[in-house]
Amino acid sequence: MQTVNISHVAEYVDEEVKIAGWVYNKRSSGSVIFLILRDGTGFIQAVAVKGEISDGDFQTCDELTQESSVVISGKVRADKRAPGGFELAVTGIEVVQIADEYPISLKKHGVDFLMERRHLWLRTPRQTAILRIRHEVIKAIRDFFDEQGFVLIDAPILTPSACEGTTTLFSTEYFDSTAYLSQSGQLYMEAAAMALGKVYCFGPTFRAEKSKTRRHLTEFWMVEPEMAWVDLDGNLKVQEELVSYVIQRVLEEKKNELETIKRDTGRLENIKPPFPRISYDEAVEILHKCGVEFEWGNDFGGGDETVLAEQFELPVFVHRYPSSVKAFYMKPDPERPEVCLSADLLAPEGYGEIIGGGQRIDDLELLASRIKEHNLPEEAYEWYMGLRRYGSVPHSGFGLGIERFVAWICGLDHVRETIPFPRLLNRIYP
Ligand code: 4AD
Ligand code: MG
Repeated sequence: MQTVNISHVAEYVDEEVKIAGWVYNKRSSGSVIFLILRDGTGFIQAVAVKGEISDGDFQTCDELTQESSVVISGKVRADKRAPGGFELAVTGIEVVQIADEYPISLKKHGVDFLMERRHLWLRTPRQTAILRIRHEVIKAIRDFFDEQGFVLIDAPILTPSACEGTTTLFSTEYFDSTAYLSQSGQLYMEAAAMALGKVYCFGPTFRAEKSKTRRHLTEFWMVEPEMAWVDLDGNLKVQEELVSYVIQRVLEEKKNELETIKRDTGRLENIKPPFPRISYDEAVEILHKCGVEFEWGNDFGGGDETVLAEQFELPVFVHRYPSSVKAFYMKPDPERPEVCLSADLLAPEGYGEIIGGGQRIDDLELLASRIKEHNLPEEAYEWYMGLRRYGSVPHSGFGLGIERFVAWICGLDHVRETIPFPRLLNRIYP
């Protein structure tokens, strides 16, 4: 008898198969026991009827607890009323392990309770659906860049210097010196872009963020493309195409999962380029018109971003921020040096910034003076300045935060559910 995945039972109607999985739920009416089995690929109801299987097997079914591991034999029946459209008429059972009393019942639990048991919480239909969507998002991002001739370059995680400011660095002993966990692979991608033209890295990044918000993790995954000979405008085109491509892929490939998590996909369906573009100045005007108190020169907070994004159906680019609120490497606008050729992409539905990027300083002297002004240790950036010494060219790139992107696609109210084991200000367990 063949062991099959629940996702493939449709191919075995009226045949006897084995399913290896876990007991998700059990109901009994005395002579009939209904088991909901899950095997990672799906859920199916298995029905054991007294008299149709051996008394021993029926007794075993009766003793199963939630999350017990089993191999169940049965005949696949097509049944419109069954969840998923198929049912298994049990013919035999092997128990692998009877689970202890499972801490997560099928009732509602509080978030703290679930986060403390994240290793088990992952088994629920909602969490598995989100993780499958995350997988599709990552796969689609890779396909997008690979199809366009970008080369995947892995950035180091242990680094001697900061990319995004020194206030959110995690440090660790590195033999006789100090190393920092990478905040961004960008500086290394700039080196790689000078070698290969179009590159991207995709990996974990770390920020010692003291922020307890629904959008901040201390460890998150970022995809960071970097392109030689590309200016701010070219950079934005890649971003709007990437975001649209990934969303359309998820809508096509992950219909069931989006349904499981009850995502209203109406607004996602319309996400296609071009996205609206407004300058920082225009954004400040919009905030003022909406009655938000905001002073030119400050950075936007989450609330400001929500107000801005609400004015548009599509994600919106905000470009040319004041240089003072952005990182040291941002190229000043030649026509107005107090602002820089940066852009953030703000997602709709209250999700705010999902991408940060811009055109980089390509002039050695200017870069050196910015490194000084930001009080960064020059020795650690010597190699980076060297990139402007040997064939410097205009270049741009951006970073897309996977968790914020997935939170938006899934319509979640916190990034903690978008990553298997979230690391937060107050959580590093399990
Ligand atoms: O805007 P950020 O800080 O930009 C950079 O790191 C650039 N060096 C990227 C580049 O140009 N190569 O971060 C980029 C994105 C944000 O828009 C956000 O989506 C995500 O990374 N991000 C976070 N996600 C979760 N938790 C945090 N603490 C995050 N910080 C940034
Ligand atoms: Mg940013």
